[in-house]
Amino acid sequence: MKEECKLLNNQVIVITGGAGLLGRQFCSVVAEHGGIAVVADCNAAAAARVAEEIAAKHSGRAVAKVLDITNKASISQLIETIHHEHGRIDAVVNNAYPRNPNFGHKLEDVTYDDFCENLNLHLGGYFLVAQQFGLLFREHAGGNIINMASIYGIMAPRFDIYANTTMTMPVEYAAIKSAIVHLTKYFAQYFKGNNIRVNCLSPGGILDGQPSEFLARYNNFAASKGMLDANDLQGALLFLLSDMSKFINGQNIVIDDGWSL
Ligand SMILES: NC(=O)c1ccc[n+]([C@@H]2O[C@H](COP(=O)([O-])OP(=O)(O)OC[C@H]3O[C@@H](n4cnc5c(N)ncnc54)[C@H](O)[C@@H]3O)[C@@H](O)[C@H]2O)c1
Repeated sequence: MKEECKLLNNQVIVITGGAGLLGRQFCSVVAEHGGIAVVADCNAAAAARVAEEIAAKHSGRAVAKVLDITNKASISQLIETIHHEHGRIDAVVNNAYPRNPNFGHKLEDVTYDDFCENLNLHLGGYFLVAQQFGLLFREHAGGNIINMASIYGIMAPRFDIYANTTMTMPVEYAAIKSAIVHLTKYFAQYFKGNNIRVNCLSPGGILDGQPSEFLARYNNFAASKGMLDANDLQGALLFLLSDMSKFINGQNIVIDDGWSL
């Protein structure tokens, strides 16, 4: 297939946290469908590895950049560099996953300081990325923002499935992800009329070496496959990035094999 026929047609797409579990798959599907994936991550070495792996299959379609989503100067620098190198930015996927070393404790053990710090890093960082790219897109006649939320932004946790494991569903995560679902609507409304779309994806759990006892309990609530693989989210991301979804704005797409029903 000729590049110009592909769905993303040379769009330059920034994926924050591009070196992570989901980010790698997102960068890969962007490159595969004719876009240019900017693997933007605070882990420079990991971002470089991901970009090299993708570029080996799709030449010139992935570049690595260092980014700290909690730092406005870092976001501005990234935007400036990409503009200089590619002359355009079409979309940003707000997908990084910053957390402090105490993230993930049970409710009783979460301190006020840790609660606030994790909200600042994750929710604050997503706000900053959406704000800075939104303003850029308004100036440049349009763009596309996709925020990563979670089913835990829209439903109460099923605490029972974590019994006898060190895992839980962190209280900070519920606050962060529900806010991201709503900020998506806020930003979509705010930038209406500027050819800017803002949507979010809410995945269920993603396979990543979880204990089998936990997985069996989790899978009981799914419709067919059970817990999904990271690459199971690629289609939904591609849909939101492409013109196939051009009239979809301010929406949250849940991808969880029916788990949250
Ligand atoms: N993995 C899941 O089960 C799951 C489920 C639902 C939603 N999500 C959401 O998907 C997104 C990605 O999750 P993941 O599992 O791929 O995470 P991950 O931890 O595998 O990867 C996150 C990446 O973000 C980078 N990062 C951390 N802090 C950063 C910062 N300040 N600036 C830039 N980059 C930073 C890390 O270096 C890492 O490469 C998150 O929003 C997460 O909440 C994940």
